[in-house]
Amino acid sequence: MDPPAPQLRIFPDRAAASAAAAALLAEEVRAANARGRRAVLGLATGKTPIDVYRELVERHRRDRAAKSSWDVETFNLDEYHPIAHDHPVSFHAFMRAHLFDAIGLAPARRHLPDGTTPNADVPAAAAAYEAAIVAAGGIDVQLLGIGANGHIGFNEPGSARDSRTRRVALAESTRARVAAEFGGIDRVPTHAITMGIATILDARKIVLLAFGAEKARALRAALAPPPRPELPASFLQEHRDVVVIADEAAAARAR
Ligand code: F6R
Repeated sequence: MDPPAPQLRIFPDRAAASAAAAALLAEEVRAANARGRRAVLGLATGKTPIDVYRELVERHRRDRAAKSSWDVETFNLDEYHPIAHDHPVSFHAFMRAHLFDAIGLAPARRHLPDGTTPNADVPAAAAAYEAAIVAAGGIDVQLLGIGANGHIGFNEPGSARDSRTRRVALAESTRARVAAEFGGIDRVPTHAITMGIATILDARKIVLLAFGAEKARALRAALAPPPRPELPASFLQEHRDVVVIADEAAAARAR
């Protein structure tokens, strides 16, 4: 039987959509913890989830005030390669700034692909990353953004359904989009380490965020059958539990 179609939830604006996404993540954490389990979250970086993390930090603060602590372990989708952990545009730095430090997440519970791994050691490090996800019990809920070219994680167009964590070349359009943050396109890494499509689809639940008119075409293409490597986000159609949280602008072409 075909999996059910992704559930599309449309909000008037990014703020309302971000609040809904944060509520959903916080509920996953509480539900897992209430069953005596640590919650395992798959996390994304970029402009899209910034307000989600702000809301999540606020929810964590309120729960802590109510003497309810969160037991969480996190795995990020990707990291540039090579890049130093303390590079201001690294995803390590992003996560510290937007979430990890504010919720006091222990360093041992934070996992990101390592942008400092020598090229020759990447296959072993990637296999270890996959093994760490399995050892944690698998990802309960994976947060995703979507690239204007339909990428998820840094699985650029052409990525295979069975891809796993690996080193990939970034699309030129992906590099161009972050050129200003790096101080020029020449300073943007040409490669990254990313979870694969198969890694992402192993998560028990997936939350795809799409905000703004620049994502409208990609979101519409992602929801249109069939799943295809040219539009990596379309592989989400093969997952049984995908929630798309979009603002009106991103959803304009998807309905
Ligand atoms: C980030 C990631 C990427 C972004 C995507 C959208 O960890 O994996 O797939 O989610 O490039 O980026 P923004 O949110 O900046 O539009």
